[in-house]
Amino acid sequence: MKQITASAPAKIILFGEHSVVYGYPAIATAINLRAYVTASPASNEFRISSTQLPKIYNVPFSTSFSDNNVPPQVKPIVYAILVTQDYLDKHTPLSIHVDSKIPMGAGLGSSAAVNVATVAAVSNYYGVSLDKPTISKLAFEAEKIVHGTPSGIDNTISTFGGLIYYQKGKIEQINSTNEFSLVIGNTLISRQTKVLVAKVRALKEILPSVVVKIFSSIGDIVNLAKEEIVSGNIEKLGHLININHGLLESIGVSHRKLSELVHAALSAGALGAKLTGAGGGGCMFALVKKENLSTVATAIKQAGGVPIITSTTLDGVLIHG
Ligand code: PMV
Repeated sequence: MKQITASAPAKIILFGEHSVVYGYPAIATAINLRAYVTASPASNEFRISSTQLPKIYNVPFSTSFSDNNVPPQVKPIVYAILVTQDYLDKHTPLSIHVDSKIPMGAGLGSSAAVNVATVAAVSNYYGVSLDKPTISKLAFEAEKIVHGTPSGIDNTISTFGGLIYYQKGKIEQINSTNEFSLVIGNTLISRQTKVLVAKVRALKEILPSVVVKIFSSIGDIVNLAKEEIVSGNIEKLGHLININHGLLESIGVSHRKLSELVHAALSAGALGAKLTGAGGGGCMFALVKKENLSTVATAIKQAGGVPIITSTTLDGVLIHG
């Protein structure tokens, strides 16, 4: 039986979340935590299974984008299949299996990674090796149908890998071959990005001059961090991570649990630690020297988080055959 597996990485925002909404720069990176998607033939429908879903979903082959009957759990996958099939003008039933270690709804770009890997697996299943800009574009189209107005960051990082610097919709690859060891700490506390973004907007309306100065300081941190990422100065990066976290605390987007995990990681020897993404729950990360990875992971676990030892990665989407 013909089958093709492709994989794509998760992401974290290293610096600049929230201020990025107001036109300041931010930096995000692909991390070594991947979603694997396998495409194989099916008899007369789309058969979707995932290690993260409790059952197999059979979706009619006649499904279209306007169809309201697609179960929400598999909508992104089904749309990624349809977008790819339309682009290639190949329409056959397919079986798609997702094997992903990326926690969902935690700000790690899980759905973009699954979309990117699905586009790559489906196109290669039909014998077509799409270039990366096209994979990213098709994954973005699928994401737009599901999420409305995503920024385009997640699909870009997941496709190309590495680190990116972005500002006002302009995305620039950071030219660095350095890879950094990280421990992510998941609080397992769910949060909604739009609620946290609204909270910051409300604070900015009450105290515009104060909040704008904080955004501007975060912008400075991002620009310095970009230089230190290229030079590989991890001590300086650690300081910048800590200051960025403090500024996010100051605008009210942390959470007691996030602060506890940050302090636990620092006490265990991390060079820097901060919340990542929207805040209010979700994940934090720590920049850690390789020899301290397991000590920091243990500290995060003892503080009540779920640790994931990982690293930044230059690998974007990959075809495994
Ligand atoms: O954790 P995420 O992927 O939802 O990140 C949100 C980042 C914000 O800057 C808070 C919002 C945004 O659109 O950039």
